[in-house]
Amino acid sequence: MSPQYSLHVLFIAGTRPEVIKLAPVLKAFALKDGVRVELCAAGQHKELLEQAFADFALSPEYRLDVMQPGQSLASLSGRLFHAFDRLLNDVQPDWVVVQGDTTSTMTAALCAFYKKIKVAHVEAGLRSHSLGAPFPEELNRRVTGIVADLHFAPTPRAQANLLQEGTPAERIKVTGNTVVDALRWIEKSCKDTNTLPRAIQELLQSGKRIVLVTGHRRESFGEGFKAISTAIRRLADQHVNTVFVYPVHLNPNVRKPVEELLAGHERILLLEPLSYKAFITLMKVCTLILTDSGGVQEEAPSLGKPVLLMREVTERPEGIEAGTTKLVGVDADQIEKEVSTLLDSPEALVAMTSVANPFGDGQASERIVAAIIEYKP
Ligand code: UD1
Ligand code: UDP
Repeated sequence: MSPQYSLHVLFIAGTRPEVIKLAPVLKAFALKDGVRVELCAAGQHKELLEQAFADFALSPEYRLDVMQPGQSLASLSGRLFHAFDRLLNDVQPDWVVVQGDTTSTMTAALCAFYKKIKVAHVEAGLRSHSLGAPFPEELNRRVTGIVADLHFAPTPRAQANLLQEGTPAERIKVTGNTVVDALRWIEKSCKDTNTLPRAIQELLQSGKRIVLVTGHRRESFGEGFKAISTAIRRLADQHVNTVFVYPVHLNPNVRKPVEELLAGHERILLLEPLSYKAFITLMKVCTLILTDSGGVQEEAPSLGKPVLLMREVTERPEGIEAGTTKLVGVDADQIEKEVSTLLDSPEALVAMTSVANPFGDGQASERIVAAIIEYKP
């Protein structure tokens, strides 16, 4: 390492949400002298990863090319282990910074551990307490936590989970979730709906209400996605002033059932994944959100949008306790009933609307950077 640097930090981002949640931490690090900060595009995602880098004007120093269509978890993990092993041999950073619970996160953390490189885990300590959901993310996050030197817990509950597992208190910092930092950063440029795809602009001009839909969880593949799609089609039949806008994830296990069951309906708009700026603009103008996403659950309270969460369990119960998120499972009848209740009752909708965000205050990145720089083993 060049002598002008006292610290060398390597960030790893393999999927869209990791980029979104690490971008503000990279930005905060860029203001510090004496720290060499580099970014590795781990390549678990391809198009979604590049789209997210473009959203935050990021240019990774290293790129791994591991994604394969319809990849299995074991084959993806194998390719990532090999690629990180070589990368860390070459780069030899002091710290590896990983985010969340993806396969990229878990494999990078383990490879760093094998080489005795320090690991900082952003968004540590979330637990559903079920290895079955989110699958396999609950395992990934726990494994990463076992080897992490610093744990950045977004909330006091995440901190409590780590303490209960025996993580030393001095290794845990409660920071808030960096997604709130990212949202605040991008939100400033999301006032203008002209950045939205033309079809959405026309919907807004015609006075239609929008239900924003996203979904991609592995535990819902198969029957789950059939049920979700069935519910959306029935809801679109019933609610003539509402359009269901769904930017569809690139995973073929999602695209196939969604396109087969939802394409061609006049009140269902299937879109390609949106830029972060367009997606946040859409969140701001929609009436409610139907999703299984982790990040969307954390962003919605800042924008005062109710979330109906298509999961059986969540590792982010703070939104449910705050009253802005409701678990609706992946049962077609239940989803149909809960969405209809909110669309038909202004009171029910208002009751789930709050602009207090239990997940963070927008200052998480600064706290994370300070803790890494000040770390004493
Ligand atoms: C992964 C993460 C999940 C995260 C989600 C964010 C794991 C185990 N899962 O989901 O935690 O919430 O990303 O979106 O780490 N594909 C493309 N282009 C892309 C991205 C995906 O074509 O840019 C297709 C490919 O066929 C790929 C498939 O989607 O094989 C699945 O990608 P993968 O990263 O394995 O997705 P998930 O595990 O579903
Ligand atoms: N998002 C986006 N464009 C889209 C859909 C989602 O930029 O078309 C953003 C969203 O705001 C959130 C993140 O992507 O920050 C969520 O990613 P995803 O649902 O893929 O993963 P998860 O959060 O469930 O891990």
